[in-house]
Amino acid sequence: ATLSAGLPLGALAADKKLVLGFSQIGAESEWRTANTESIKAAAAAAGIELKFSDAQQKQENQIKALRSFIAQKVDVIAFSPVVESGWETVLREAKAAKIPVILTDRAVNVKDDSLYVTFMGSDFLEEGRKAGRWLVEKTKGSTGDVNIVELQGTVGSAPAIDRKKGFEEIIKADPKFKVIRSQTGDFTRAKGKEVMEAFLKAEGKKINVLYAHNDDMAIGAIQAIEEAGLKPAKDITIISIDGVKGAFEAMIAGKLNVSVECSPLLGPQLMQAAQDLKAGKTLPKRIVTQESIFPMEVAAKEFPSRKY
Ligand code: AHR
Repeated sequence: ATLSAGLPLGALAADKKLVLGFSQIGAESEWRTANTESIKAAAAAAGIELKFSDAQQKQENQIKALRSFIAQKVDVIAFSPVVESGWETVLREAKAAKIPVILTDRAVNVKDDSLYVTFMGSDFLEEGRKAGRWLVEKTKGSTGDVNIVELQGTVGSAPAIDRKKGFEEIIKADPKFKVIRSQTGDFTRAKGKEVMEAFLKAEGKKINVLYAHNDDMAIGAIQAIEEAGLKPAKDITIISIDGVKGAFEAMIAGKLNVSVECSPLLGPQLMQAAQDLKAGKTLPKRIVTQESIFPMEVAAKEFPSRKY
């Protein structure tokens, strides 16, 4: 059979652009903005038609977006789940429609792992452990209490759960480490500042260390610390996660001690995975991003080569 233009039917199918529906969490952090840019640029470079939807940090909006991708019969669905739980029903709908689902950046908590084909992104537990190990090393030899305040990420999200767990796993080996306050700052600068103000009001100079689950909250908290008349990274040791440019600037200015890397540049990997699926290839169930850690001492040297 041929089409009116004389092309075989199969040729049309092969030429047809792959359509990828992507549901993003929102634009809560510098990391997220870089992640969105990476996905859009990689789709354009790969010639993939991207249907992009911003959920403004609401799970209900993500579920709506996934349902709309199913109705539009996209070839592949990808999403970064705002929280871990509550995805079973919609993922079953995608499976019934035979649309493969790729998880990027964050994991879901489902009993049946055939509901998604692969999960690509960082090892958040390990990031928390790296933060903990850095602190253990930094305070080696000291015997007094180390009072820590923690700014958690979005409640119920994989990075908030795992970064807390990984950090605790390391520091629990020594009773001198005491987490005296722990609260969510929702991964944003504004909330990070607000919660740090409350921590300072309640605990004042007792605070030795701030552990923030992302750079944006740490940057917000730095403002609060300065406004309280204290010196960030000196009076209070500050540890955060992501390694965004804003964190490097803060480290170069001597206001942040260390940032554990979490790369948002998942776009090229995602497009490759979508194309591999279309070509009938099987993907590994887990694709882990390789990452490093940057203490303030290396910030100036590393800054020029940072991509996000
Ligand atoms: O899921 C990754 C986390 O989400 C990043 O650490 C944070 O900055 C973002 O908002």
